[in-house]
Amino acid sequence: MKIMEQLYEGKAKKVFATDDPELLVVRYKDDATAFNGLKKGTIAGKGVINNQMSNRLMEKLAAAGVPTHYVQELSANETLVKRVLIVPLEVIVRNIAAGSFSKRYGVEEGVVFDSPTIEFSYKNDALGDPLLNTYHALALKLATPEEIETIKRYSFAVNDFLKAFWKECGVTLVDFKLEFGRLADGTIILADEISPDTCRLWDAKTGEKLDKDRFRRDLGGVEEAYGEIMRRLTEHN
Ligand code: TMP
Repeated sequence: MKIMEQLYEGKAKKVFATDDPELLVVRYKDDATAFNGLKKGTIAGKGVINNQMSNRLMEKLAAAGVPTHYVQELSANETLVKRVLIVPLEVIVRNIAAGSFSKRYGVEEGVVFDSPTIEFSYKNDALGDPLLNTYHALALKLATPEEIETIKRYSFAVNDFLKAFWKECGVTLVDFKLEFGRLADGTIILADEISPDTCRLWDAKTGEKLDKDRFRRDLGGVEEAYGEIMRRLTEHN
């Protein structure tokens, strides 16, 4: 397998073609942004942690019945993945009120829901990733009704699995964001990453934030939090 030209550079990752048309290489960066790129910084060691954490979690999810793009870890910050066309929806599952949910609905952070919620944003930086419902997604032809059902089913399955997994690590899974993609034959699989950039993870005992909110909110101890959450994952295995 040969790494070929760069196809795309996002805020936290670069994507490269390979000599196999069905495979891509993702290279994770230490760059961090927040508020649609308004806030910029670097989190030393983040690229390696996000790569390795995402890969370990996707391996477990695949075993639990959720198909993913993960193929093989190539290096500390590079992974071979299946080539997909990303469905332009950011899927957010929440177990506990936090972040934009708390702000939008005036609910204190930390209020635990009776059952998980799901919401969709239109993945469109120019528009600031606006919240939308499934009717809007259909009107915009972002996905078919069947695809949206599949995405919801997988997203709740991911939540069930990750919530239980992180609990065993002494961590509370507050919320997270997923992205899905279509293989050439139209099959929907989990893509992008699952990492402290894309999840809210709180220490189960102290409530300490062990995720990107430390960067977003200038709480300090950002690298330490990424290191600690990776240590919990590694020690669990
Ligand atoms: P929110 O409360 O800001 O809407 O974030 C919900 C979850 O989604 C949180 O775990 C962080 C994650 N997230 C991303 O992965 N990318 C984003 O661009 C945003 C805004 C949130």
